[in-house]
Amino acid sequence: MHGLVLNAKAVSVSLRLLALLCALVVLSGDVEVNPGPRQNAAGAAPKRPATRQRQLSFAQAVASPFPVANSRGRQDRTSDITGYSNILAYLQDMRSEIRQYLASINVKIDDVNTTLNNLKHENEQLKSENKMLWNEISSMKSKMDKLESQSRRNNLRFNGINGTFDEKWSDTEQKVQSFISDELNIPDYANAEIERAHRLKSRDAQQ
Ligand SMILES: *[C@@H]1O[C@H](CO)[C@@H](O)[C@H](O)[C@H]1NC(C)=O
Ligand SMILES: *[C@@H]1O[C@H](CO)[C@@H](O)[C@H](O)[C@H]1NC(C)=O
Repeated sequence: MHGLVLNAKAVSVSLRLLALLCALVVLSGDVEVNPGPRQNAAGAAPKRPATRQRQLSFAQAVASPFPVANSRGRQDRTSDITGYSNILAYLQDMRSEIRQYLASINVKIDDVNTTLNNLKHENEQLKSENKMLWNEISSMKSKMDKLESQSRRNNLRFNGINGTFDEKWSDTEQKVQSFISDELNIPDYANAEIERAHRLKSRDAQQ
């Protein structure tokens, strides 16, 4: 992109220079043709080859009219005019080329812009979707906490009752019942209904 911009600048600068030089040439041509001494056409100047006008380069086109204008007559004026029209044609070509180039660049920029807009849109969608999901997760979390605490409402945890992990859960139940009636001294609950009794891993010691 950078190189492109620079090129366009350089082109516009050289275009201006050229236009300036052309204006100068036209002006000096007008002044000098009148007072110039008439000369024999054959002796004074050899005719320029026709091809020269076609292989016009900027340096030739601009440099040639000045030194020869004095010694040559009308013929040079007409060839100068063809020279200027060649320059004009060249500039017009260049202008249409630059226009085409800019048009193709604009198409590309539009493409990029469209893609960018699509991505922006998609990103917004994903963001809002993400937000929604996070809200859902947090509401589910709080629901789950509620359910867990509800399901644990009737849980009791006893530490320090002798036994192993592989004992039958009816043994565990029996141990808990005797612990309640004997150790805690609450015989009314000796046959308390226990839905399920199971061993938990000790928090501080591995058993
Ligand atoms: C890019 O697209 C947006 C939305 O269509 C538009 O507002 C903006 O002018 C465009 N920009 C260019 C540089 O084309
Ligand atoms: C209970 O603990 C004692 C002493 O630590 C041990 O001797 C006994 O075998 C244990 N009983 C059971 C059922 O594991």
